[in-house]
Amino acid sequence: MRAPRIAVLTGSGVSAESGLSTFRDKGGIWAQYDYRQVATPEGFAADPALVHDFYNARRRALKCAAPNAAHFALAELERRLEDRGGALWIVTQNVDDLHERAGSRNVLHMHGELSRARCGSCGDSRPWTDDLDVRTKCPSCAATGAMRPDVVWFGEVPMYLEETAAILSRSQQFVSIGTSGVVYPAAGLAAEARALGIPCTELNLEPSENARVFTRRRYGKASEIVPQWAREILAE
Ligand code: OAD
Repeated sequence: MRAPRIAVLTGSGVSAESGLSTFRDKGGIWAQYDYRQVATPEGFAADPALVHDFYNARRRALKCAAPNAAHFALAELERRLEDRGGALWIVTQNVDDLHERAGSRNVLHMHGELSRARCGSCGDSRPWTDDLDVRTKCPSCAATGAMRPDVVWFGEVPMYLEETAAILSRSQQFVSIGTSGVVYPAAGLAAEARALGIPCTELNLEPSENARVFTRRRYGKASEIVPQWAREILAE
């Protein structure tokens, strides 16, 4: 029998044990910052230096972080399913690159990437590992003051929505890992998968906001329950 084709949605919980903060857990990022100030186009227009400081700090933290057992288990599962004629696609809300650093190849960043910068003036987007500030010049059009992290802010349209819909339509299982299920459209993917008749599994520290949508649920640390789940998929 051919191995299954699996769509995986990940959120910040998958990177928590790599030392990167989640957003809504106790002491999380949104307990320390007002998202309207640091993660909206209006916040950037009002105080770009504050927004740059916020993302510069997160970009620096990412440089010190490493993938954990959950990232590695997903990368290995992708390889092993492909060897057997199946597939695994990751759609992540995370702006970190830990899936890629663990070896995953099929990764879509629906909320953009910390390690890319975009020019608000000419639209040029390119890999970016340094700090950004209000004086950073666009390497493409030479405009000053328009460079921003290539991430999606509240009020902006997430990336890869068509590709995500195409992945769902080709999948036989949907798995949500480490997300609270409160930010749409990501939070609606499980219901979309259910509507397509695809069984849905939730792997999270605790039941998410839309836990009832899932046919299977397992709760614990991602570094433990994701490798466990991956082993079970390969044994099926
Ligand atoms: P949240 O902070 O909302 O949720 C993180 C989830 O991970 C919670 O349900 C936790 O229980 C779970 N969790 C924490 N530690 C875990 C661990 N070790 N193992 C497994 N699960 C764990 O973060 P997200 O759902 O990722 O968007 O947030 C979604 C979006 O909201 C983000 O992409 C970001 C944020 O605002 C933008 O900035 C646009």
